[in-house]
Formats: sequence, structure tokens, C-alpha cells
Amino acid sequence: MYQEWRYNEFQQTGKNYASQDEVDVYDPTHDDFRDLAKELKETVNWLNPKPNSKILDIGCGTGNFSIQLSTLCEKVYAIDVSETMLKFAQSKAIAAYATNISFSHTGYLNFDLPKDHLDGVISSLSLHHLPDFWKSVALNRIFRVLKPGGRFYLYDVVIPDQQSKDTIDAFIDRQERRGGAFMKEDTIIHFKEEFSTFDWVMKKLLLDAGFLIEKEILSDGVFKNYFCQKPL
Ligand SMILES: C[S@@+](CC[C@H](N)C(=O)[O-])C[C@H]1O[C@@H](n2cnc3c(N)ncnc32)[C@H](O)[C@@H]1O
Repeated sequence: MYQEWRYNEFQQTGKNYASQDEVDVYDPTHDDFRDLAKELKETVNWLNPKPNSKILDIGCGTGNFSIQLSTLCEKVYAIDVSETMLKFAQSKAIAAYATNISFSHTGYLNFDLPKDHLDGVISSLSLHHLPDFWKSVALNRIFRVLKPGGRFYLYDVVIPDQQSKDTIDAFIDRQERRGGAFMKEDTIIHFKEEFSTFDWVMKKLLLDAGFLIEKEILSDGVFKNYFCQKPL
């Protein structure tokens, strides 16, 4: 493949997570609209980590999922294209005595792990940073590094197949009520400059990569959990 047309995943699109100011406000502002305890529980329930499991957290952000999973498995690979996020997550991991997390400055299109190496992969609110073709490349790369039977937890903002414009407008209003002007602006940037795709496109990309979609949950009109597995 010509390197010239490869997508540069290290350039920030939409929200600038390379900015220290954005990283500093990330956890408190996300608390305004997320139930992190519930998300962590869902992740653990689906990935079902064992003491010898190896898990990859892609777009680890401030490290909440990596730190939680690290207490239950052998090793977590936590990767992100923002070095600022990685430094922040690393300091949280040190404070939590989580010594089995390997942090790397890399992303969906560049991580380097052996085939059939991982028991689980988590992607939470990060895949939408890639345009659709590159989502497909990323999903194929995730499929390759999972062991047969390995599990993939995908959580992201998707565009509903029906009444998409009204649903997005209503979601922006709800986000404003939850987190004021900051969260309204955050959500507008999301839909204007990032690459959330239709639910049906996401499902097709997952199925084409070879995944079984065992369960799906839609919440708030736009948040979607896909509980996936690589066939045995
Ligand atoms: C909205 S945050 C999500 C953080 C965390 N996973 C969570 O659920 O709170 C998105 C993160 O994905 C990272 N990111 C964006 N594009 C990426 C890519 N191509 N590969 C890996 N991480 C990426 C950003 O730097 C940012 O830290």
C-alpha cells in the first residue's frame, strides 16, 4: 500500500485531546453525562478478564478502563494518540499502584501486536475519530490480534438510522442541560468535526471484519454498545 494516502491518526480531529486544558477537564466534565461505574461494570462483564488475560484499551484517554481492568488481568496495553492523555493516565495508574499497564503512544492504525495475542479489546468513545474506511481498517486489525473466542467491547456515539437530525438536536439539548455551555459546544464539535457514523454502517463494518455481534444496547438515542466476539 502507498504510504502517501495512509490516514494520519496522530493529527487531532475535532476535540483537541493533545491540549492539557482539555485533558484536565475531561473526567469532571464527562461525569456530567456518564455513569462510569456502570460502563466499567459492563466492560468487565463482557471482557470477563482472567488472571492470565491480556487486554488492549484503544484510545485509553484518562485511563479509567485500563486501571480497572488491570486489577483483574495479567496485562493491559493502553494506547492513545495523545501524549498528554497518556501522561495523565500514567500518573493515575501510578497513584492506583497499577503496575501491569503498558502505555504506548500509538493508535488503531499503528499498534503492533502479534496475531491471536489478546483475550479482550476495549474501544470506548474513540473509534469515531477515524473516517469510515479507516474504521474498517482498524476493526480488521483488532480482529487479527484477538485470540479466537476473544471479546471486543465497542462503545461509541453513532448516528441512529431513523430520524437522525432530530435525535442529534435533542441529544445536544440534553447535553446542554447536563453540562451547560461547555458540554453543548463539546457535542456540537463532535457531530460537526468528528466521524460518528450510522449504526447500520458500524454493524456492517463489524460483521465484515468477521465479528459476531452478540448483544447491542442503544441509550440516549446515540450511545451504542456493541458486545462482539471473534468466532472460535
Ligand atoms: C473521548 S476520548 C475517550 C477516552 C476513554 N476511552 C473514555 O471512554 O473516556 C477519545 C480518546 O481517543 C484518542 N484517540 C483519537 N484518535 C485515536 C486513534 N486513532 N487511536 C487511538 N486513540 C485515539 C484521543 O486522543 C482521546 O484520548
